[in-house]
Amino acid sequence: LKVALLLGGISTEKEVSRNTAKSILSALRKLNYDVIPIDPALGLKQPKNEDDLFIQQSPENLSKRNYIEIINSSVFDDIDVAFLALHGQYGEDGIIQSLLELRGIKYTGSGVLTNALAMDKLMTKIVLEFHGVKTAEWVVAEKKYDLNEIQKQVYEKLNYPCVVKPNDQGSSVGLTFCQNENQLKDAIDLALKFSNKALIEKYIQGRELTVAILEDKPLPVVEIKPKSGFYDYKSKYTSGMSEYICPAEIPNEVSLKLQEQALIAFKAVGCKTYSRIDFRLNEKNESYCLEINTLPGMTNFSLVPKAANAAGISFEQLIEKILISSLE
Ligand code: DAL
Ligand code: MG
Repeated sequence: LKVALLLGGISTEKEVSRNTAKSILSALRKLNYDVIPIDPALGLKQPKNEDDLFIQQSPENLSKRNYIEIINSSVFDDIDVAFLALHGQYGEDGIIQSLLELRGIKYTGSGVLTNALAMDKLMTKIVLEFHGVKTAEWVVAEKKYDLNEIQKQVYEKLNYPCVVKPNDQGSSVGLTFCQNENQLKDAIDLALKFSNKALIEKYIQGRELTVAILEDKPLPVVEIKPKSGFYDYKSKYTSGMSEYICPAEIPNEVSLKLQEQALIAFKAVGCKTYSRIDFRLNEKNESYCLEINTLPGMTNFSLVPKAANAAGISFEQLIEKILISSLE
């Protein structure tokens, strides 16, 4: 079986993606698969030395046009499956999946529609609410927003603190915990640098939990305790900035409820093989789904490997399950 491991790309999460890929590459090699790591954003200009794929590329090398060039090239002639270690734009949003579909190459994880849908936080909320999975109340600001109008809506529906994020990014890039009305404009403008829509959500006071689903079964719930109080980019990817507890120390019925909600969410958007569903839990143990990650991080800090480990599934076993199920 010849595997192309796709990593990097041009999204704001390319750094995270390279770390995800490092872990997956070493697992696939331990499992004796023939793997070729490829950064689609470099097109045919792949470095001779494989290690160079994992270092920061100069921005002029990276282009979305390169994705087409490489996937369409002879490099992919004898590839059986693409293992997607990409995150965010052009990786987790259905775009690369579409290219691979057109090229007739199998890939890991969910299909085009699921990725596109789950990348759009607003669309995801609408689908989840339809299926009875509660999400935090929200307000949307588009590019030409009226600040007074948005302030009024936020005041009436959400109040402060609220969370402002780009509608289609991951890893908390462009996210602000907005403490009061004075911070709202800057928060929205920052989010709009990354997306056409800024999603403003009620801040759910309480705990941060996540449920990974593997092959239609929920894994043990993970609780995340960021030292700073907020689980932002720094808390996610800096060693020692967050504490992870798995299985989470919550009442059994709360844990079962979260797993049930995660599975409903997984099925609602049509996920395949694996995903990670993030939640906030308030003081009354009511859960609010934050989002569905169709290509969740697999770095040393990442949550899906922790949850799998708690279920007795090693990292190599996890990677092999994901790979094999993509061949079906
Ligand atoms: N978006 C990051 C990679 C995650 O969800 O793990
Ligand atoms: Mg995410």
